[in-house]
Amino acid sequence: MTSDELDIHTREPAKERIAPSSAFVEQANIRDSSLYDTFEREWPTVWNRAAEHVHWDSPYDHVFDEQTREWFVGGELNAAVNCLDRHLDEQKNQRALVWEGLFDEQRTFTYLELTREVEAFAAALRELGVEEGDVVTLHMPMVPELPIAMLACARIGAVHSVVYVGFSADSLTTRMAESGSELLVTCDGYYQRGGAVSLKNKTDRACLGLEWDVTTVVVDRLGEAYEYALGPNDFDYKTLREDHYGTEVEPVARAATDTLFLIYTSGTTGKPKRVTQTTGGYLSYVTWTSHATLDLKPSDTYWCTADIGWITGHSYLVYGPLSIGATVVLHEGRPEYPSKTRLWEVIERNAVDILYTSPSTIRTLMKRGESYIDEYDTSSLRLLGTVGEPINPRVWRWYYEAVGNGECPVVDTWWQTETGGHLITTLPGVTDMKPGAAGPPLPGISASVVDASGESVDPGEGGYLVIDKPWPGMPQELVDSTRWASQEGGLPNTDGWQYVTEDGALVDEDGYVTILGRVDDVIKVSGYRFGSMELESAIVAVEGVAEAAVVTGTHDGHERGLYAYVCLEDTYERTKRIRKAIHESIERVVGPFARPDAIIFTPELPKTSSGKIVRRVLTDLANGNDLGDTSSLRNPEIVGELESITREN
Ligand code: PRX
Repeated sequence: MTSDELDIHTREPAKERIAPSSAFVEQANIRDSSLYDTFEREWPTVWNRAAEHVHWDSPYDHVFDEQTREWFVGGELNAAVNCLDRHLDEQKNQRALVWEGLFDEQRTFTYLELTREVEAFAAALRELGVEEGDVVTLHMPMVPELPIAMLACARIGAVHSVVYVGFSADSLTTRMAESGSELLVTCDGYYQRGGAVSLKNKTDRACLGLEWDVTTVVVDRLGEAYEYALGPNDFDYKTLREDHYGTEVEPVARAATDTLFLIYTSGTTGKPKRVTQTTGGYLSYVTWTSHATLDLKPSDTYWCTADIGWITGHSYLVYGPLSIGATVVLHEGRPEYPSKTRLWEVIERNAVDILYTSPSTIRTLMKRGESYIDEYDTSSLRLLGTVGEPINPRVWRWYYEAVGNGECPVVDTWWQTETGGHLITTLPGVTDMKPGAAGPPLPGISASVVDASGESVDPGEGGYLVIDKPWPGMPQELVDSTRWASQEGGLPNTDGWQYVTEDGALVDEDGYVTILGRVDDVIKVSGYRFGSMELESAIVAVEGVAEAAVVTGTHDGHERGLYAYVCLEDTYERTKRIRKAIHESIERVVGPFARPDAIIFTPELPKTSSGKIVRRVLTDLANGNDLGDTSSLRNPEIVGELESITREN
């Protein structure tokens, strides 16, 4: 398959092979390479092994129901009990959560203390009328009250829907409306790059956009720095906590197939895509993968730098590591802020064993150089993980050598909001690493790379990455619809169930998967996921804009960024005012984190003869790549002009 058909660039499969150090292997949770065969031979009953990591109130009747495609049917459990109560016998005085605030504040919660906090808030939610199955929206920065509220919902069988704090009021309204949520937990505001940002005004506006009244609970994060008045439907978190502290809240036994949470992500349409996770399958899967790929043990101190507002924070900051019983570091801001040495400081102070972060964070740290690391003791590290985007082999090397001292395995974990947990990555005590390739599919995961007609491609050739068998972490949407994510009915030639991931990939002779990037209109930049449609419709909403196309690029040699190519109506001229209006519209419709890095005005966009925008040409321009043959465009003459306009920007 050519890269033109895939609409992305292909690359060489990873070549180098690195074995994990014997010191790591000796202590690894998984050392047995026959696990791959066992999972293949004994699928699906072998997934018992994941469920065994979880405490069940009632055992399940079937591991997997082939008819309904549901996992652990008949079983009952409670996710909060798994993350808290079950650790109390042996670990009640161990730290569950260490919060590292921006201004050198630390708050720690032992497993017992965290359980009490969760019970207090669960009792408060009940008093506010929340019942099993109700959707509670959480729109909060990285404060301890966020995981507390998530687990409080789980305890009483309410469904949480965390909406990333950077989203706009409009985005919050849309998500609350879609889920029918009548209760919101938020903060007065939060600190961002040192300044205080108010949140209360935004959430008030969001609630006004709903057709029903919303009860809001407000956590006071800014203290005296920001005064606000509570409205008639607003409650102060601290007061509720004080009123209910000490109340025992009996956990609600939930069916394995009951919803644990909703999370919205970006799809190819302008509308947010809802992902619904089940209690039994999801919890088993994230606990299992925390054990298998992150090598987590209850004695570990573990730091995942992702924001809880995204799936990585749900699966590998809250549910997976707390279910294992580890000590979890929760860092308030970005790991590169407030100081250049912040990440190393936090690792040293907490003697972090396992670090899980993104390639964009690693790139930022790499640019700063090793001298900053050398000042700190990072020898506690045992395993390094990465997620969210492809990691370039040079950056992988730096992570492995400069951060891990050549001794810590690096797990490059490929997965998505839709998959709930890791699907493709090495088992760190078993499988060799290949820098640049995520790894083979995990045991029990069946992945292949196919062409547009659904046939498998040869090793080394690019194609569509598809998952051929269900796994316990799959969301409810995949139970109902076999080809949920794919455009126009998915790929032909498929017998039975298949999930089309919308990523391009290649597989090498050894079965290692190299991810090439998205093949749909979803774009990833700095770990954020956007639908190009949602950004483009926000731009086109600006008066005077005729058409727009948003792609990612690195043309200026800096970090990957969002490039918006914009055509104006004939009577409009490019002005500062239009540029500002575009930024404002994106901030209003999506949120400030979606601001384009470059807005490039052009008289036309490159189009096919049928009038479809050819994004590949724009992506190549934004990355300074060779454009190849563009003669089949309807308007090939625009390409030269676009080249010089992009260069000028
Ligand atoms: O393109 C893949 C990329 O991130 C997409 C999923 O984004 P999101 O749903 O926001 O979830 C991110 C955290 C799981 C994928 O379709 N991606 C994720 N992990 C990797 C990756 N690309 C390459 N290598 C990875 N390890």
